[in-house]
Amino acid sequence: MTSVTALPTPEPTGARRPTPRQYLMCRPDHFDVTYVINPWMDASTPVDRALALAQWETLRATYERHGHRVEVIDGVPGLPDMVFAANGGLVIGDRAISARFANPERTAEGPAYHDWMSARGRYQLTAASETNEGEGDFAVTRDHILAGTGFRTSRTAHEEVAEFFGLPVISLDLIDPRFYHLDTAVMVLDGTIAYYPAAFSGESARLLARMYPDAIIATEADAEVLGLNGVCDGYNVFLSDRATTLPDQLRARGYNPIGIDLSELLRAGGSVKCCTLELHRAGTVLDSSAA
Ligand code: ARG
Repeated sequence: MTSVTALPTPEPTGARRPTPRQYLMCRPDHFDVTYVINPWMDASTPVDRALALAQWETLRATYERHGHRVEVIDGVPGLPDMVFAANGGLVIGDRAISARFANPERTAEGPAYHDWMSARGRYQLTAASETNEGEGDFAVTRDHILAGTGFRTSRTAHEEVAEFFGLPVISLDLIDPRFYHLDTAVMVLDGTIAYYPAAFSGESARLLARMYPDAIIATEADAEVLGLNGVCDGYNVFLSDRATTLPDQLRARGYNPIGIDLSELLRAGGSVKCCTLELHRAGTVLDSSAA
């Protein structure tokens, strides 16, 4: 069963406006849970791949209905987590870095995403030399790139990304294995973020509180259903339909939350954002430190 609100999208009434985005997604043709590399995964019960496909198609159709362009990379047999396109790399403007995975089970995804980026022919492209799980651990905000470390992406990868893109990168320490990627603990909104402070070390949580005094603080219940693993286009916020408090928090700030059922993909520890690599347009990060 897939569910998505059938109601027409209300026109933005406040100051928030959606902007058309480009997303890269990977159909879950080979999706499975055959190994365990995060606490969400349980390889002992079979996945319902048809359901995963139907849920994924709903997400893709929802993006397209809201004016976003979705490009699709072919999945590779034997790479059951490749559906989580966010991990494939980081793309901003004409620069792209492809991932270098922490776990051997996912290693071959790095070259697969690299080849896709290379075939697109429009990037100054490099393969990460440090352990780097792409947008799973790098969140592109208006002012900088937030970067997670602790479980997957290494701190040296943060330096590599800062240098490659010439943009400021803020390192944050993740401490709770349930929130093993930054995109499970932070959702980028237009100009601010939503996050779950307990997923971070005290120092990193204090840093976020200082940087984003107006942030939305997610409840543990919403973090625990990967409610923060959402995608914002400036107005619409595509997120798990299991989040209960976040939709109201978002509405109160003028956003339009759109609930998506990705229950089958959640069994591998992923939700909306994990399935989505944004191909960010140039100038997404207003680098005030440059010049
Ligand atoms: N099973 C995958 C892993 O553990 C899930 C990846 C989810 N992706 C993400 N961007 N958080 O690597």
